[in-house]
Amino acid sequence: MWTKILSAAAAGFASLPLALAFNNPPSVDIWCGKAYRASNASFNPGGWFEEPSYSSTPFLNLKVRPRMSIYLDTDTAGSLLVDTSISHLVGDPLPIQTSSSSNSSQQLHLNIHILTGDGAPVASVTNHTLPLSTANAEIPFPFDSLTPRLTPYTLTTIASLSNTTTTFTTSSELYYLPHRTDGGSATRIDHRYGSLSYLRGSSTTWTPIFPYTYYVQWSLYWDTNTTTLPTFSSAGYNVIHIVPTGTLSDTPFPWSQFTPYLTLADSLNLHLQYDVLWDPSNLTAMIDQVSHIHTHPSLLLYYTGDEPDGKSDPLNSTKVAYDTLRRLDPYHPTSLALNCKNFYYEEYASGADIILSDVYPVATNTSWSTVYDTPCNATYGCCGCDDCEGKFEDISTRIDQFHSFDDLLGWEKVHWGAPQAFGNETFWTRYPTAEEEVVMIMLSVNHGAMGIVMWDYPSSEEIEAVTRELAPVVTGEEMVRFLVGADRESADVRGAERVDVAVWVSGGRALISVLNLNYEGVEGGVVVGLTGGLGVKSVESVLWGSAGWVVQDGELVSDGLDGLEVSILVVELE
Ligand SMILES: *[C@@H]1O[C@H](CO)[C@@H](O)[C@H](O)[C@H]1NC(C)=O
Ligand SMILES: *[C@@H]1O[C@H](CO)[C@@H](O)[C@H](O)[C@H]1NC(C)=O
Ligand SMILES: *[C@@H]1O[C@H](CO)[C@@H](O)[C@H](O)[C@H]1NC(C)=O
Ligand SMILES: *[C@@H]1O[C@H](CO)[C@@H](O)[C@H](O)[C@H]1NC(C)=O
Ligand SMILES: *[C@@H]1O[C@H](CO)[C@@H](O)[C@H](O)[C@H]1NC(C)=O
Ligand SMILES: *[C@@H]1O[C@H](CO)[C@@H](O)[C@H](O)[C@H]1NC(C)=O
Ligand SMILES: *[C@@H]1O[C@H](CO)[C@@H](O)[C@H](O)[C@H]1NC(C)=O
Ligand SMILES: *[C@@H]1O[C@H](CO)[C@@H](O)[C@H](O)[C@H]1NC(C)=O
Ligand SMILES: *[C@@H]1O[C@H](CO)[C@@H](O)[C@H](O)[C@H]1NC(C)=O
Ligand SMILES: *[C@@H]1O[C@H](CO)[C@@H](O)[C@H](O)[C@H]1NC(C)=O
Repeated sequence: MWTKILSAAAAGFASLPLALAFNNPPSVDIWCGKAYRASNASFNPGGWFEEPSYSSTPFLNLKVRPRMSIYLDTDTAGSLLVDTSISHLVGDPLPIQTSSSSNSSQQLHLNIHILTGDGAPVASVTNHTLPLSTANAEIPFPFDSLTPRLTPYTLTTIASLSNTTTTFTTSSELYYLPHRTDGGSATRIDHRYGSLSYLRGSSTTWTPIFPYTYYVQWSLYWDTNTTTLPTFSSAGYNVIHIVPTGTLSDTPFPWSQFTPYLTLADSLNLHLQYDVLWDPSNLTAMIDQVSHIHTHPSLLLYYTGDEPDGKSDPLNSTKVAYDTLRRLDPYHPTSLALNCKNFYYEEYASGADIILSDVYPVATNTSWSTVYDTPCNATYGCCGCDDCEGKFEDISTRIDQFHSFDDLLGWEKVHWGAPQAFGNETFWTRYPTAEEEVVMIMLSVNHGAMGIVMWDYPSSEEIEAVTRELAPVVTGEEMVRFLVGADRESADVRGAERVDVAVWVSGGRALISVLNLNYEGVEGGVVVGLTGGLGVKSVESVLWGSAGWVVQDGELVSDGLDGLEVSILVVELE
């Protein structure tokens, strides 16, 4: 948050940008919509997410969407994902008799059509039958009759409920693009797991990637010499996010100085999360950036807004940028970072496929602003971590809350973490320790973050050392295979409070990540049991942490945990 602006200022920006406010009284500066100066009074910022009201009539929350965000004409086939969930909050009313049994034997018959712009069907799946209450049912879809094109097809579904006259309709978009001939890359999101994969040049094979990197200051790091790139890459980071400070914020953009970095990134297989210099009130610079960069083989995705919610950018501005990017380049997804806990989430998040949340809870006072000398609460104050409690759980609560908003909004969003890797400035009295850093990274992953971009680099020696050490684990083939291709599940923990566990099950094995969020050690036996009737047979390998886990009666048992201990294990299942 402010740290970014202040760091940017330190790195060469002349002054802080003014809050482009839409909800505040004149002369009142705001962050996340709230007044934060002692000279200004609290007012209701608005923008809270509104839960739909509960309906006693059950709804069918029908969702039909392509599994992949884009397909290329070199993909031989694709598939659709279908949810036929029953909800009491969103969807279309089901005939009342369905409510008597939540897992009703009634069937849905789906007719799915792919339509061109003028509404003519070019491909169909007819009378595909599914029971109610299924999630992520996968329906194969042949591409034989589709012509590749740069604009999306419309996917329309009409579903009828067996033994009733009730029908339901829903639609979404399907991208079926020509394979590139310009040497550029393509990146797709797998909506089944929220994972990313890419291909480059003439290759037709998608490679999965778990992005793991830092926001890196141009003026404080890259700018010195292109040799920074191989150094960064050899530390194990697979993506670069260049924060456009110093000369990169100049107009015109110094392409001749910058291009050697892009060329080198290609040969190092370093992927770019590319900051397009988005200005919410003027898209000229962004469009210019995209026209230079869109064919670049290393481009993984675009990054538009750095905390547009904190700055109270116009509510439609992220979506306007997103739609523009999509028109200019349908081959790459877009991300942005949100800083606020609950300020017009729907509006701001509508402008990206991937949302990073930068929640910075370490070594800060979240109830009293040490910078502005005010209290911080739901309607007032800026403490550097919006509506936080100063605990690691601020990170997991934020991602969980965004996921629950997504479920109600019915859209597909991917979430990444932006863990705190800075300190000793403004609101934060010190840097996180190595142990805290690993906890924050893995807590994000345990709650579904499918990428990590820490703020910021250069960091402390201690943090840089531990994130280098963690790099081959979280970007390694073993762990990535689970993250990009298995459902994330919870587990039962006994014998300790505040131990966060996530489990990914695939092919008779599981990845298990166990985090002790307590600074103090846990004495006595801690037991981790899998859910869904699964039992552990043996520990196959320890990817991170101690080998102190043993298997007893199908559960993992440790005779105690150190403070902030993190274990990442691969186990064989019974
Ligand atoms: C808000 O604070 C600023 C700066 O201290 C002051 O100039 C302004 O008059 C205040 N506005 C209101 C409405 O209190
Ligand atoms: C769900 O279906 C099973 C078997 O089909 C039945 O035994 C059970 O009672 C049903 N549950 C509800 C809530 O209707
Ligand atoms: C629907 O109708 C079929 C025959 O028309 C019958 O076999 C089936 O049991 C009915 N299902 C329900 C849920 O009423
Ligand atoms: C759809 O399939 C079901 C069996 O799954 C069948 O009973 C029904 O008659 C079919 N409907 C149409 C319109 O073909
Ligand atoms: C960049 O670093 C390399 C290797 O240290 C050195 O050979 C080269 O002269 C440096 N280039 C510049 C412009 O400083
Ligand atoms: C928009 O930005 C461009 C440079 O990026 C500038 O040349 C142009 O004047 C700006 N337009 C407006 C209306 O400010
Ligand atoms: C965005 O909202 C502003 C008002 O805040 C409005 O003037 C503008 O027309 C909107 N733009 C689009 C593309 O909807
Ligand atoms: C935050 O600051 C307030 C006011 O100075 C103080 O009372 C409180 O103990 C501090 N909390 C933490 C966690 O430092
Ligand atoms: C937040 O603090 C301000 C200043 O003390 C106070 O006026 C306001 O009522 C508080 N808001 C809430 C929701 O507690
Ligand atoms: C903290 O920041 C201050 C001021 O920038 C600096 O003088 C000091 O060396 C820093 N301390 C550490 C431990 O980095």
